[in-house]
Amino acid sequence: MTDQPYRPQVPAPQVEQLIQLRPLLDEEFVLSEIDRLRRERRAVILAHNYQRPEVQRTADFVGDSLGLARQAARTDAEVIVFAGVHFMAETAAVLNPDKVVLLPDFRAGCSLADTITAQGVRDWKAQHPDGLVAVYVNTTADVKAEADYCVTSGNAVQIIESLPKDVPILFAPDRFLAAHVARQTGRELHIWEGACHVHEAIRPDDVRAQQAEHPGAELLVHPECGCSTGVLAHHPDLQLYSTEGMVHRAQASNADTFIVVTELGMVTRLEKEVPGKTFVPVARTACCEYMKMITLENIYESLRDLSGQVSVSEDIRERALRPIERMLAVG
Ligand code: 13P
Ligand code: SF4
Repeated sequence: MTDQPYRPQVPAPQVEQLIQLRPLLDEEFVLSEIDRLRRERRAVILAHNYQRPEVQRTADFVGDSLGLARQAARTDAEVIVFAGVHFMAETAAVLNPDKVVLLPDFRAGCSLADTITAQGVRDWKAQHPDGLVAVYVNTTADVKAEADYCVTSGNAVQIIESLPKDVPILFAPDRFLAAHVARQTGRELHIWEGACHVHEAIRPDDVRAQQAEHPGAELLVHPECGCSTGVLAHHPDLQLYSTEGMVHRAQASNADTFIVVTELGMVTRLEKEVPGKTFVPVARTACCEYMKMITLENIYESLRDLSGQVSVSEDIRERALRPIERMLAVG
């Protein structure tokens, strides 16, 4: 017997395992198909401010979490395509049990929402049985179902301010937003130690580097930012803004250059709404890969096949509705 080199017995790979056979779709075709299907299906496309520029351009409405939830609550469309992340589509599904809600890519999750579970909230409540639970909108529907109030970055301060002073408040899951709310309201909160990986990674040094390059630029800082405490030490009067709040601030301000301290998709929205002013992303790395999973191609496919339907069980839906409606009523 000849001494042959050892070769593992691996079946030959199928050609489709080696090559991605799906051809790239022509953008003009995709855009015209999205428009045709949107009309045929009586659909509306809602996009978050962090979406890709081309997705923002094709959406019927672009906004922050609160604005998108409001649009979802009032739309008479039969199909809602959510160009955002899973918890946003779920909120739309809670508000619209009779509509089809589509999320074009189910991998579009949220690292912040993943820091808390319904069981986690139940255990926490058991430690503070007389407390009220306020959860950020960046949570799953079953977490919202355990809460008394739901808040967004646009109305968290107002909602917490309105709660009775003698009741402990459990605030979850973002610890930086919680710190901001505690500062603004002067209330002591029980805080869940969650954070968003994108915002947490923005450091005071990133802000300082951009300030050195753009002296006199105004800061637009989102309260989810890990850097905010460090930045506030140098700018104690600094206001923090939800993504939509940044648009209003940039419109009202006399400044002509802004350092945008949040996910970099926000720059697209600001440039559209406030033409003539300059918006500098705080860091090119401040990019939410979950938000960017939504593309023109998967919006088209989702509308074509009605794929990616998001639903919430009736029991969870009924319990999550009350905190969501309280959120919609404020701000
Ligand atoms: P906004 O509610 O300010 O749009 O923020 C949502 C979000 O996911 C921030 O990371
Ligand atoms: Fe979630 Fe952070 Fe992405 Fe917002 S930026 S969707 S909080 S992971």
